[in-house]
Amino acid sequence: MRLDKLLANMGYGSRKEVKNLLKQKAVTVDGAVVKDAALRVDPDKQDVSVFGERVIYTEFIYLMMNKPQGVISATEDRYDKTVIDLLDPLSQHFQPFPVGRLDKDTEGLLLITNDGNLAHNLLSPKKHVPKVYYATIDGTVTEADIKAFKQGVELDDGYVTKPGELVILQSGPTSEIQLMIQEGKFHQVKRMFEAVGKKVTYLKRISMGSLVLDESLPLGDYRELTEQELAQLIQ
Ligand code: URA
Repeated sequence: MRLDKLLANMGYGSRKEVKNLLKQKAVTVDGAVVKDAALRVDPDKQDVSVFGERVIYTEFIYLMMNKPQGVISATEDRYDKTVIDLLDPLSQHFQPFPVGRLDKDTEGLLLITNDGNLAHNLLSPKKHVPKVYYATIDGTVTEADIKAFKQGVELDDGYVTKPGELVILQSGPTSEIQLMIQEGKFHQVKRMFEAVGKKVTYLKRISMGSLVLDESLPLGDYRELTEQELAQLIQ
């Protein structure tokens, strides 16, 4: 691949800006200063560095975000901030998108990537990827709700949900629960509780398939997936 293309792809600016970097002698290939934008390089075999820092060439980016409330799970929005607005410019350069949607007022695990294949596999209804949510509920959640969710409940549009696994963490006028579902219908968790006469007052996604929210991530922060997380997710 041409050196200027590699550097532009990796977010070091436009081809023109990359030319300036080369002029400044900021770029080395295997330790030697290079000024030729058209030089062919193999980033897997050669050490391409900018200002002494090695450029690790990747096509895909995989980020785990702890989504805060008040931002939209989309790449752009006319009125509100999106999860993509929370990313640094270098990450944005890869043109990532959120895998699936969390409501504006939902927190928690959101995978952000530019790997369309992975996104498709995780979102495909055929793959039954389990998603686990934690929620607080206005109302007493009961054994009857566990049974109802296991059998499937009828949502407001007539759709009957696939079996969900409800665990009551605390039951009372305000209950705390964990719910595992294998679908991703619009507002699904909120509508499932509406179907049994209760209201979700707080919702957070904890996991999606093998990927579990890193609770040490502050709300609104994100990090790259570890190699292990990625390997488990794509297998
Ligand atoms: N179910 C909901 O109701 N909202 C979400 O954001 C995710 C699942």
